[in-house]
Amino acid sequence: MPLRHLLSNNKTWANETRELDPEMFAKLAEQQSPKYLWIGCSDSRVPANEIVGLLPGELFVHRNVANLVKHTDMNCQAVMQYAVDVLGVEHIIVCGHYGCGGIAAALGQTNAGVADYWLRSVKDAYLRTEPGFRALDQERRVDIMCENNVIEQVANVAHSKIVQRAWQQGKQLMVHGWIYSIRDGILKDLNCTYQSLDQIDPIYQIELDK
Ligand code: CO
Repeated sequence: MPLRHLLSNNKTWANETRELDPEMFAKLAEQQSPKYLWIGCSDSRVPANEIVGLLPGELFVHRNVANLVKHTDMNCQAVMQYAVDVLGVEHIIVCGHYGCGGIAAALGQTNAGVADYWLRSVKDAYLRTEPGFRALDQERRVDIMCENNVIEQVANVAHSKIVQRAWQQGKQLMVHGWIYSIRDGILKDLNCTYQSLDQIDPIYQIELDK
């Protein structure tokens, strides 16, 4: 049977988890109350829960290629809205990673089909890079773009109506930008945190519901 090993792994995992905490599945079946929303890359080498040591029930997760937050992406926006309005998360973490294949693809001539449309905004960001960026070697350029991309997506989260409305309502909500190194497993804070409306440039401020 195809995938038999995965189903067998699952039985082992469920048994081991029950041994560690006999009540865990029963508690999780009743409700989830994660404090964090993770927006990360789909890359198989960046497993969200594991790298921050969180168990099932502790991290609400959205992942896509190159951890992009687009205002027209109803999937990502719906995840954010549910996380903030219903689950009441207090932190949104946008986490990129060095050597991201999506970012690397956007920095070259590509023919990856639908993925090219998805990555177009990263390609556009290339036009806004500092002078000298283009002279760097490809690996360095990809890593700088991986960082720039996180900072830009953090701003996109902060500019969303969902986040601005939460601040307007006096909710505690912080938006963080982190980057992960596949080489050593270490996360780095890019110090681009947003936590209040006064950090939002007036051109992005939206008329909020009363
Ligand atoms: Co990636």
